[in-house]
Amino acid sequence: MGKKAREIVNISIEDLLKDLNSLYADEWIAVFYYTWASDFIEGPVYLEVAEEIERISKEEAEHMSELSDRIFELGGEPERDLEDLQKIANCKKIVFPKDERDIDGVVNALAEAEGCAIEAYNRLLHKVSACYEKDLRTFHLVEHILSEEIQHEEAFENLLLKKKQ
Ligand SMILES: [Fe+2]
Ligand SMILES: [Fe+2]
Repeated sequence: MGKKAREIVNISIEDLLKDLNSLYADEWIAVFYYTWASDFIEGPVYLEVAEEIERISKEEAEHMSELSDRIFELGGEPERDLEDLQKIANCKKIVFPKDERDIDGVVNALAEAEGCAIEAYNRLLHKVSACYEKDLRTFHLVEHILSEEIQHEEAFENLLLKKKQ
């Protein structure tokens, strides 16, 4: 993004880049844990659940690329240090149950992770909405990802409900 395009973004670019990079870190961490979870689970319904986790994990990877594009456009650089990714993330760790057949426990942990993502995107959406007309691009990106995180939480909660029926 050029000089003028950066100027019209009325919030501190430095702050915005920091927030976008924290979300970028969250997405990396989500892809790591979701991939791990889909390989870990066992039991009669594991295939359906694993496929759903993999589908959602692919969307998290898309979020990561979308955030990375925006960070570059704003003149920044996505975090390149793996250890620092963990330090700057909003949602740091997903703790899974020890038993690979405890699919409810795994899905519950994933639903909670989506809850953390929803909070983090919602916080940034409020921030960027203060200068909505100045930085439509970031606003729409964050709004778009937030709506997918909301769908993810619902998808995991639906899996839990389905198993109870
Ligand atoms: Fe995401
Ligand atoms: Fe998500």
